[in-house]
Amino acid sequence: MDKFQIVGGYPLRGTLDIPTAKNACLPILAGSIMCSDTVKIIDCAKFSDIIYMTKILEGLGAKIIEDGDDLVLDMSDIKNFATSDEYTKKIRSSIFLLGPLLSRCHHAKVAYPGGCNIGSRPIDLHLKGLRCLGVKIIERHGYIYCDGSNMHAGDIYLDLPSVGATENIMMASVMLDGVTTINNCAKEPEIEDLQNFINAMGGKVSGAGTSVITITGVDKLHSVEYTPIRDRIIAGTYMIATAMAGGDVTLNGASANHLVALISKLRQSGCQIDTYCDKIHIVASGNIQAVSHIETQPYPGYPTDLQSQMLTLMTVSDGTTIIKENLFENRFNITSELTKMGADIKVVDRMAIVRGVKELNGAEVQAQDLRGGASLVIAALRAKGYTTIENVYHIDRGYSHMEDDLARLGAHIKRIV
Ligand code: EPZ
Repeated sequence: MDKFQIVGGYPLRGTLDIPTAKNACLPILAGSIMCSDTVKIIDCAKFSDIIYMTKILEGLGAKIIEDGDDLVLDMSDIKNFATSDEYTKKIRSSIFLLGPLLSRCHHAKVAYPGGCNIGSRPIDLHLKGLRCLGVKIIERHGYIYCDGSNMHAGDIYLDLPSVGATENIMMASVMLDGVTTINNCAKEPEIEDLQNFINAMGGKVSGAGTSVITITGVDKLHSVEYTPIRDRIIAGTYMIATAMAGGDVTLNGASANHLVALISKLRQSGCQIDTYCDKIHIVASGNIQAVSHIETQPYPGYPTDLQSQMLTLMTVSDGTTIIKENLFENRFNITSELTKMGADIKVVDRMAIVRGVKELNGAEVQAQDLRGGASLVIAALRAKGYTTIENVYHIDRGYSHMEDDLARLGAHIKRIV
């Protein structure tokens, strides 16, 4: 199992290109099932979750080839509506294969999904929404069986603005007769990207980015070449890393209007941030002011996927910060590992009280989930001495060779295989 070895104390300086977004590429790859022609995804991210999704698609009959940084998917021969267990159980995003499989095959059989152990990750909103569209669903022996022979358009209200459930229902409705509305839907930029991808194939979806999405059914979708949006969570992770280590970094492709909440918090912590139409420039002294309060919310609130990273930054701030995690009940895994490095954190239910300490010390720590693992890297960039991070496969799920990016900026980090 690969490890990272990091020596702390080196500032980050230079420029990075931000890749396309994991959480945009995954629903777009799933959505390609709805097209019975060729789909080309330009500059598709190559994280392990993406690779697992392509394996699932190949198991359904897709022929996928890499064309430089692009992926070309021949979806003309999808002959199977049951996904392979091996990969389905590794990733959370396999759950939103139900929608596109129902659109294409009118049936679907998918094992329960995997994903980060950051909470119970229920799927009730996905299934409730599909049942509103007339899908017959049986859950048995760890599988979800869907019969969409009598599907119809419908009006759906989501009890929570679930990203995955919004995407699943959107894709299930694309080729239904009539108009489907999804109320109280998620508003993430990746939802808007999925809408744009579907419309580029000839679909009729509107309202993404607001709390009501409308899908007007069409008969067929045609081939497309599509470039997904850049990864706002990777951009945010590297901004927080720069704040932690100190330095001067420019992130090409980063979209400031996708990171308004984070930029506000980092400016409060003392960073200088200049934003442009297609890049973000951050300068940080390494002196960090406590931001006193961070509360995760659905977009456009402070993103849960940047909670662990900000918590880490606050461990060396000049005061106390209260962090409330409202989306996932188990997203403070990292605190035990940060405590080994000298952090002062107290967790009470969904709240973490972080008291800034003068410095962290290098230690042997273990990544336990994707964003928590990335946050341990951030801690190690500043900690005194050596830090070894085990279970780096968690980090590889959402960052492609993070060690190369950080080394390019001057960090002393290497992967030990
Ligand atoms: C997506 O997960 C992202 N994953 C997550 O990113 C992200 O943290 C999350 O959205 C929130 O922004 C992908 O896009 C692949 P949700 P998803 O459904 O769709 C509850 C990362 O690090 N809920 O929006 O699974 C749920 O428990 C990952 O890149 C139900 O109750 O998240 C949570 O409290 C981690 N029932 C809230 O909704 C359901 O049926 C938001 O979850 C579904 C969700």
